[in-house]
Amino acid sequence: METSPRAVGDELVLAGPRPLRGRLRVPGDKGMSHRALLFAAMAVGRSRVGGLAGGEDVGRTRAALGQLGVAITDGGDGLLVEGRGVDAFSEPGDVVDCGNSGTSMRLLTGVLAGRPFLSVLDGDESLRARPMARVLEPLRTMGARLDGRAGGTRAPIVVRGGDLVGCAHELAVASAQVKTALLLAGLQATGTTEVVEPAPSRDHTERMLAALGAPVTRVDARTVRTTAGAPSPFEFTVPGDPSSAAFWVVAATITPGSELVVEDVALNPSRIAFVDVLVRMGASIEVAATGERLGEPVGELRVRSASLHGTTVEGGEIPGVIDEIPILAVAAACAEGLTEFRDAAELRVKESDRIATVGELLTRLGVGAEQGDDRLVVRGGRLQPGRVDSHGDHRIAMAGAVAAGAIEGETRVRGWRAVATSYPEFTTDLAALTGDPV
Ligand code: S3P
Repeated sequence: METSPRAVGDELVLAGPRPLRGRLRVPGDKGMSHRALLFAAMAVGRSRVGGLAGGEDVGRTRAALGQLGVAITDGGDGLLVEGRGVDAFSEPGDVVDCGNSGTSMRLLTGVLAGRPFLSVLDGDESLRARPMARVLEPLRTMGARLDGRAGGTRAPIVVRGGDLVGCAHELAVASAQVKTALLLAGLQATGTTEVVEPAPSRDHTERMLAALGAPVTRVDARTVRTTAGAPSPFEFTVPGDPSSAAFWVVAATITPGSELVVEDVALNPSRIAFVDVLVRMGASIEVAATGERLGEPVGELRVRSASLHGTTVEGGEIPGVIDEIPILAVAAACAEGLTEFRDAAELRVKESDRIATVGELLTRLGVGAEQGDDRLVVRGGRLQPGRVDSHGDHRIAMAGAVAAGAIEGETRVRGWRAVATSYPEFTTDLAALTGDPV
């Protein structure tokens, strides 16, 4: 018998249904991994960061810091970052290649806006198509000279950094990447920098920087403020990524006979709203907090298979589940009735146009998905085996694999190599949870 999952060229071939059982730790949180490396480089002194996400995105931030002259070495149980503060950053000798990583590009732009040299940030085809004006425009009001392709709206981005002046920013979209870029610029600016969001986005930057003694304060749920300052060096083990855990949580929910525990996972409330959505749909998920690291709650998720029904996800709930919508849509495909994701235009500017790519994924697996400018409506039904395409987007690839694992018959996910962005170990973990040899 042929094994499942198995890789054939750039396709992952899976045959289900296979219940998932056991305990696992997912790779370290991607957003916290980027931030931990950046903050360690901005501090003066040695930091040790363990449990980092091993995917390509975080590798881009690490490589970029190397180009800025920051020494990062392997310390056995983590990376050792020899921070010398932002003043010691040196002009990169080449273009900084952010690959597929929007977080690398936007956060680095904020840091580099305050540095007195020229930097050029570029990325792959997907990243070059993503909106950058949202970060360049507010940074310009602080005094940085920034430009980009397409009238200053797309990468490659050119940053001529220098002296910055603190400003009050009112963001048009809830974006933790933009908020973080402005705070990292604000740490280098004179006066006060304030960021007001239309709805709260994930708050890792505020929690981690405040825990590291930087002058970042939360004014209210939508407003954060900083003055000039820097984080202190630290030791930190990055907890597991809830966005990666979400794939297993949905897989166990929709595959009868499953029961699994995700250990040492980040439980930041701004990241686990997908659990609330799934519980509302009828899922059986227990959340148990076990502690806190750098202001970030950490714990376990226990999940058992369950029958689901449709729900509506909209408005202020969207920013908290934006990365989980592809996998929530797979849950919705297995639920009874309609599930609507509304007010979700941001999905169109992620690693792929996720309204289109999720819609196509479900349609190819025999489930109705209606697309609107800012919404996706999934008509729950019976998934059928088929051939799907990641369109180079890691979360679409993994959503396809989870759907495939719940379907009787063979399904193929094309463009599987995209998982390297955030979760290179996905296939190994899947095989371990379904009891297959790898
Ligand atoms: C992230 C913020 C979100 C999220 C992305 C990671 C971060 O992007 O989708 O995967 O680490 O700050 P936006 O800031 O564009 O909403």
